[in-house]
Amino acid sequence: MATYDLIVIGAGPGGYVCAIRASQLGMKVAIVEKRPRFGGTCLNVGCIPSKALLHASELYDEAGHAFADMGIEVKPKLNLAQMLAFKDDAVKGNTEGVAYLMRKNKIDHFHGTGRILGAGRVEVTFINGEQQEVDATSIVIATGSDVAQLPGIEIDEKAIVSSTGALSLEKVPKRLVVIGAGVIGLELGSVWRRLGSEVTVVEYLDRILPGNDLEVAKQLQRLLEKQGMAFRLGHKVTGVKKNGAAQAVSIEPAAGGDADTLAADVVLVAIGRVPYTRGLGLSEAGVQLDKRGRVEVDAHYQSNVPGIYAIGDVIKGPMLAHKAEDEGVALAELLAGQAGHVNYGIIPAVVYTSPEVASVGKSEEELKAEGVAYNVGKFPFTANGRAKANKQTDGFVKVLADAATDRVLGVHMVGANASEIIAEAAVLMEFGGSAEDLARTCHAHPTLTEAVKEAALAVEKRAIHM
Ligand code: FAD
Ligand code: NAI
Repeated sequence: MATYDLIVIGAGPGGYVCAIRASQLGMKVAIVEKRPRFGGTCLNVGCIPSKALLHASELYDEAGHAFADMGIEVKPKLNLAQMLAFKDDAVKGNTEGVAYLMRKNKIDHFHGTGRILGAGRVEVTFINGEQQEVDATSIVIATGSDVAQLPGIEIDEKAIVSSTGALSLEKVPKRLVVIGAGVIGLELGSVWRRLGSEVTVVEYLDRILPGNDLEVAKQLQRLLEKQGMAFRLGHKVTGVKKNGAAQAVSIEPAAGGDADTLAADVVLVAIGRVPYTRGLGLSEAGVQLDKRGRVEVDAHYQSNVPGIYAIGDVIKGPMLAHKAEDEGVALAELLAGQAGHVNYGIIPAVVYTSPEVASVGKSEEELKAEGVAYNVGKFPFTANGRAKANKQTDGFVKVLADAATDRVLGVHMVGANASEIIAEAAVLMEFGGSAEDLARTCHAHPTLTEAVKEAALAVEKRAIHM
């Protein structure tokens, strides 16, 4: 009999949550993690440190210009080392929290690198080089993702950085060039812009945030430009040359045309992430990958090798922590004989810029492409009492409802606190709610969430405050 019911390789949001749920369901569980701390990309070099810096830099920025309006007179002075320490402390608190949860749930921890020897068998190589074989009935690959590299541009995490280096720059770069106007580029670009960098974002496509609702993305771009961020859309970076302490970033129009050069002190490469399967022994174990290097799984997260499963960034779907977590829960429940399930149509996505962008469900572009008839209700924060009181009136909420049934198919917003507001749209959609349901739900006053209710009313052209 195998020593464990389940071995999870990787202790990110997918892996550690799967381990906890499996333990709750009575399984004997072990987790293998090569990083010194639990929490994976998200807690160590992703969601948590980036949000800590976004929070601190936003307050610094606001203290510089918005506080005076409210009668708070301060002259903010940046202590970058302390701001980075604040961020590191957030990481420490969160990763220690996961360590506590592992102990509480009696999950055995192997601190080393896991390699699959075959169904049921994992070899762990510890930091000191020693090895141990661990066996289990089921193996879960939850090894996450890594930074996508741009050929010919070497990331040194000092002058040419990935998101990891951009979370720990020792001084504020005078000029920061960001390659890629996706989530990382806009979030970390915002951090350093607020702290004083001149930020230019180079994006291959002719829009920012591909995949997001276009109207929302355009509005965010206008707002970021007002904050001083510059965009070179429809351009590709062809090379970065070191020029003393500075970098010369060569760009040219994606559709062809005259090349140009941008000067930068630091270049952030943020062109996406790739599944991480290096050193796992997958080809020897016969585990199939898809064309993009992701572990191919069936609807129950099982790979082509019985007993070997995969979840999170290493499989298809959005690379988001909450998607990985929900897959972890679903898989543990399936392994326990329950009906674990993830509703992939209702996974909220947030961009933590200022203002924030949040969305769930289909965008207008997707509905058009699918030929679905829909009604749109929109409501601007300029007409929301709380937003006016707070002087945070940038942005709007958009509700998309099925023209025939009124069922809500998508909700998109740009505005203050959008990351928190989007949850009500997700709950409504999970219950198959209509715009009418949303419009008739009493929302507390004065709150920003009233804009969601008003947008739902606007689907039937009966918003009250517009
Ligand atoms: P990971 O978190 O990548 O964890 C995988 C773990 O496996 C790692 O700790 C790795 O060390 C370990 N591992 C790999 N191979 C082995 C091996 N052979 N043996 C042992 N251990 C191994 N998502 C959001 O939802 N919200 C956000 O705000 C957000 N912000 C982000 C900001 C940044 C800068 C970045 C880079 C990402 C962000 N993400 C965010 C994405 C999020 O971090 C990922 O979607 C999430 O971490 C995926 O979880 P995972 O468990 O699949 O993998
Ligand atoms: P991304 O996929 O969001 O954006 C990459 C951008 O780079 C795209 O706009 C793409 O068109 C552009 N691009 C690609 N190649 C290029 C090139 N050669 N030149 C110029 N532009 C190019 O990837 P990103 O921002 O690196 O984030 C990676 C993942 O991390 C995302 O999948 C995201 O889900 C996750 N993440 C989530 C966050 C959140 O939920 N708030 C925050 C940060 C990351």
